[in-house]
Amino acid sequence: MIRVCFVCLGNICRSPMAEFIFKNMVYERGLADSFFISSKGTSSEELGNPMHSGTILELEHHHIPYGNHSASKLEKSDYNAFDYFIGMDHYNISSMMRIFGSDTNHKVFRILDFCDNKKDIDDPWYTGNFALTYQEITLGCQMFLDYIIQNMTL
Ligand code: 4NP
Repeated sequence: MIRVCFVCLGNICRSPMAEFIFKNMVYERGLADSFFISSKGTSSEELGNPMHSGTILELEHHHIPYGNHSASKLEKSDYNAFDYFIGMDHYNISSMMRIFGSDTNHKVFRILDFCDNKKDIDDPWYTGNFALTYQEITLGCQMFLDYIIQNMTL
């Protein structure tokens, strides 16, 4: 079982979008049983809140199934519960290092670092551009899944 946690700031826009895009992707590749996929935020600002309407609209537009979501915060104890923590921007990476204290098992990655164009995924909470967020997260998820498949023994 490969355990993946997508991480952003509030856990209402980007990381739940990544969670449901990635769940759909592994399902379509027949790999759903090999994964446990979740998402969390580095702040407690949105604790318990559902996904942002912009994220829901984008998932629906692309026919990506999604379930109930309640924002939760990443804790130090999560480090041992997952194999990969996939952040959306460099702030998420710094915050994860602060929360975990260290990354001794090299589990922390920025999503677009799996792609040629290594950059942050800008926060649609501020930009309002959820369509761009969807495109960038989809590309990052594809490249991340390719990376895992190359490294996994099923
Ligand atoms: P997210 O977006 O990190 O992609 O979920 C944000 C959601 C909420 C806030 C900031 C970013 N906030 O400040 O409450």
